[in-house]
Amino acid sequence: MRIGIPKELHAGEKRVATTPDVAARLIKLGYQVAIEHGAGAAADLGDEVYRAVGVDILPDAASLWQQSDVVLKVRGPAEHTGADEFTLLREGGTLISFLWPAQNPASMEKLAARRATVLAMDSVPRISRAQKADALSSMANIAGYRAVIEAAQHFGRFFTGQVTAAGKVPPAKIFIIGAGVAGLAAIGAANGLGAIVRATDTRPEVGDQIRSLGAEFVPVDYQEEGTGVGGYAKVMSEGYLKAQREMIAKQCKECDVVITTALIPGKPAPTLITAEMVASMQPGSVIVDLAAEQGGNCELTVPGEVVERHGVKIVAYTDLPSRMARQSSQLYATNLLKLIEDMTPGKDGTLVVNMEDEMIRGATVIKEGEITWPPPPPKLSAAQAGAKPAAPPAPPPVKKPLIPKALQPLIVLGGAALALGWLGSVAPPAFMAHFMVFVLACFVGYMVIWNVTPALHTPLMSVTNAISSIIAIGALIQMSAPGFLMTVLAGVALILTAINMFGGFAVTQRMLRMFRRSE
Ligand code: NAI
Repeated sequence: MRIGIPKELHAGEKRVATTPDVAARLIKLGYQVAIEHGAGAAADLGDEVYRAVGVDILPDAASLWQQSDVVLKVRGPAEHTGADEFTLLREGGTLISFLWPAQNPASMEKLAARRATVLAMDSVPRISRAQKADALSSMANIAGYRAVIEAAQHFGRFFTGQVTAAGKVPPAKIFIIGAGVAGLAAIGAANGLGAIVRATDTRPEVGDQIRSLGAEFVPVDYQEEGTGVGGYAKVMSEGYLKAQREMIAKQCKECDVVITTALIPGKPAPTLITAEMVASMQPGSVIVDLAAEQGGNCELTVPGEVVERHGVKIVAYTDLPSRMARQSSQLYATNLLKLIEDMTPGKDGTLVVNMEDEMIRGATVIKEGEITWPPPPPKLSAAQAGAKPAAPPAPPPVKKPLIPKALQPLIVLGGAALALGWLGSVAPPAFMAHFMVFVLACFVGYMVIWNVTPALHTPLMSVTNAISSIIAIGALIQMSAPGFLMTVLAGVALILTAINMFGGFAVTQRMLRMFRRSE
């Protein structure tokens, strides 16, 4: 089959649906790949870099669409002047792109009329197995990072605090509302630039994620569970929203930059920052409203623009991923590749739309002209909607301990000493020497592991696993022992221990690479 990538025609869109690296991997999967001349130019990817990996370059949109069985795009098809992408798509062809079926029923009808099969990247379910194809998350990650860069660009001071000969500079305070993918990426980037970062979310379980990225979690002083179906946020009660507004008003007064990412899928963005709150901010402060496309979290947001109100700059770009086109094209192309890999079970360049696969079922919005959207809801939910929290178990009746608490460790130690004394009196001296080494090794091992950061436990365990494979020495010694059985057993032991040893080192290297910044 031939996969084709046309040039994006939406004004200002710089991304391209495949990059040379990914195209090479599509070719390995058995596909022929073609791009329209200049499709990657806005993302700094010229025709020649595609040609070098074996991609065909077609001169215009008409030939690209007509000669492709599967078309990969970033934006959904549209009727652009001079190129109506709906009619360019082959009858019965396949299209994979963002589409937003709920917002674009007319596009859905037009594509169904072409008997097309359409997979919408915005409909890939947010389940663990589909993370590799989750383009919404990859784009939100870039948007969160870029929001901080935009804030830094419009803010007239350093983000990091400094003590210089010319005076002391306090660090900027950044408040992030909504700690989903974009919000967490923004926390990471703002922290990296040295700002003091605070963040809030209606879902209390993200508190730990916020703290692990080095920010302070600001909860709302109101008891209400904020997690809805599929782990997404739910619409909160009026009482909660009032308490939240009070908290946000306080943060707006204290912070220099506010980045808002609050959204519930399929709903207009909640208004969380009022005009009054904007007026209470210091002149020169910045608000970056990522939810601008869905109406914005700030009352004064003008989608797609940067405006100044009450001395505060409100940045509401709706194309943040496109402003980092090279990076976002790479991540988007990889998401597409992962989806296509799952749809090419035979690795033979033939695309199979398997509706039994939850990830593919979720993304497929039209199958051979039949609208299959919306898909059945995802089977897993981080917290069951509407489920009442279980009542806390009644505390067990407090029993008075037989032995006072303070005496308990002394009794355990005394017991252990007596047991050791008895063992020493009956066991042979050679056993006792080995036994003491064993006890000391347990103690030292415990103390060493206890002092290692939990994040490093997995590499540590894999390296100890590798080291513990000194069984190899025993096996080598026994190999020359008399008897065929002994030699075979020693050989098997050596093979198994070699797997353990080299596997352990390989896993350790892989884990440690994750902690290195340079790779
Ligand atoms: P997400 O669904 O992962 O995160 C949204 C977060 O907001 C969730 O953690 C949710 O719990 C929280 N939230 C919802 N209502 C809230 C409320 N009332 N108060 C506080 N928190 C609340 O979404 P993701 O992927 O992180 O995207 C965030 C926003 O960024 C969305 O509006 C998305 O459309 C937008 N976006 C904007 C781009 C741009 O170029 N401007 C590009 C990509 C995403």
